[in-house]
Amino acid sequence: MPDSLPLYDRVKSFIPPMEWPVFADDIEAILELKRTRNAVILAHNYQTPEIFHGVADIVGDSLALAREAQTVDADVIVLAGVHFMAETAKLLNPNKTVLIPDMGAGCSLADSITAADVRLLRQRYPGVPVITYVNTSAAVKAESDICCTSGNAKKIVESLGVPEVIMIPDEYLAQNIAKETKVKIIAWKGHCEVHERFTAAEIKTLRQDYPGIIVLAHPECPPDVVAEADFAGSTAAMADYVTDKRPRRVVLMTECSMSDNVAAANPATEFIRPCNLCPHMKRITLGNIRTALETMQHAVEIDPAIVEPARRAVERMLAA
Ligand code: 13P
Ligand code: SF4
Repeated sequence: MPDSLPLYDRVKSFIPPMEWPVFADDIEAILELKRTRNAVILAHNYQTPEIFHGVADIVGDSLALAREAQTVDADVIVLAGVHFMAETAKLLNPNKTVLIPDMGAGCSLADSITAADVRLLRQRYPGVPVITYVNTSAAVKAESDICCTSGNAKKIVESLGVPEVIMIPDEYLAQNIAKETKVKIIAWKGHCEVHERFTAAEIKTLRQDYPGIIVLAHPECPPDVVAEADFAGSTAAMADYVTDKRPRRVVLMTECSMSDNVAAANPATEFIRPCNLCPHMKRITLGNIRTALETMQHAVEIDPAIVEPARRAVERMLAA
């Protein structure tokens, strides 16, 4: 858990007192179900504060969740996040039950590319290694040489020791990393439906309206947005920036709930909130986490034919 304040104190600026009894009932039930099921809850930084602060055992960015999934000591993992994150946890824990509370929690990046697309790219660029963002299906990972996240993309690109790589599916992430490395990057045209909506003009207006504001952007934002920001990094890197540098006023050009969660741990910083919600992340609620643990649904299963190559791509990333 991010800090040791009593639970409601940590979330009281986001959850009105009237709503709290409803959340508290679900939280109590989930904490009890975790004990009886020997379950842990892994929650992404975009989960709402009542999940992030209320029931999660492990919180973090995609990279941290994948790393932590490797060491989980439990029979059941509930992934409070989107489907590709649950698949990654299952790849790393084939003998554990991995539950996602809503099977519809997808991702526009994961939907932008198929395994057949990757095979075509390999035909078009023979011998060029394929680096695949974790925001993809297991089937796409299985066609890849290695995975990356926003937290390690540059390191992974340079770890291969080749002059050219294919980096799929996020075009903007690929373009942002290409600016930081000599390795030539062939991109795909996938976009995050949340981050593609931010604009450089919006940042200019924010700087006028809130003098001295520090702007942090996720690398899934378009390159002109990243260029206009003071810092770009994964969700964990943005949270660390606020904790380490303690800016007086900050804006996070990323999903909405992230600001709530980081603000709870950094009460001295003023957060300006341009609110872009990820509809997929928001499908996960305390109510369906509770139901998932009560009914043991929905268990993530991966086609046995692709498990090994998909796991290899994830494990290569974690070992790099
Ligand atoms: P992070 O790996 O930075 O947490 O990003 C995941 C994601 O889905 C961003 O939109
Ligand atoms: Fe996918 Fe974007 Fe949602 Fe992240 S914020 S899960 S990249 S759609």
